[in-house]
Amino acid sequence: MTTLFPTPDAATREAMHKAWSRNDLERYLARWAHATVPQLPAGFLAFAHRTCDVGCGFGRFLIEESAKHPDRGYLGIDKGSLRGGKMLTRFEAIGHANLFGIHTNAIPFLAAMPNAVLDVLTLFYPNPWWPSKHRRKRWSYHPLLPKLIALLKPGGTILLTSNEGFYLSEWTYALSHHPEIAGRLTPTYSGEIRARVGRTHFEAKFMAEGTPCGEVVFQKSSGKPLD
Ligand SMILES: C[S@@+](CC[C@H](N)C(=O)[O-])C[C@H]1O[C@@H](n2cnc3c(N)ncnc32)[C@H](O)[C@@H]1O
Repeated sequence: MTTLFPTPDAATREAMHKAWSRNDLERYLARWAHATVPQLPAGFLAFAHRTCDVGCGFGRFLIEESAKHPDRGYLGIDKGSLRGGKMLTRFEAIGHANLFGIHTNAIPFLAAMPNAVLDVLTLFYPNPWWPSKHRRKRWSYHPLLPKLIALLKPGGTILLTSNEGFYLSEWTYALSHHPEIAGRLTPTYSGEIRARVGRTHFEAKFMAEGTPCGEVVFQKSSGKPLD
């Protein structure tokens, strides 16, 4: 399928390949060596179909999806003191048995998660880390990126939305060209967001402002597990 989001320029592509070649997830994770990383809730794994929203903010998407599909498990992770805390309070008050929240940094948490457990992984409006000196914090450059893909079951999908065209272009390029990922995923959607009503707090805000937003979905090959 063709993508709406243009290939990043040569300098950006070079920066991405350089970051990928230098990434070392184990070394990166050393900063959390003495941190307490929460356990993956066993109840979440008890569901056969599982969705994880990384940086879920106040958790709107998961609250709505968990109500629509009570037979599926939904896990939200957010590290923000305001959003992560409020997400937990909301999840507890709502009390859906299939809805789980973790208030923590997603990086060490996801790094410790077993591979091939997720049917859907969503990243709605991640921080764009605009200055180029911070670009290695973007998911496209990040040492955790191959692990995000490893977390998907064969046939699982990863969805990313952004209000920044450059972020969508870099993400599309990364999922197609990262040496540990290339050839393992197929783009299934690339274009304007498909939602009519904001699925998340940020999406609702962008829609109300009239800010154009884009969405990219890739599917992991459903052949033999590649991890
Ligand atoms: C721009 S907000 C988007 C929130 C939500 N996805 C939405 O669309 O409304 C980005 C969110 O990602 C969270 N976040 C950023 N890095 C994170 C990390 N490493 N682990 C967990 N949450 C993270 C922030 O706390 C923040 O709530």
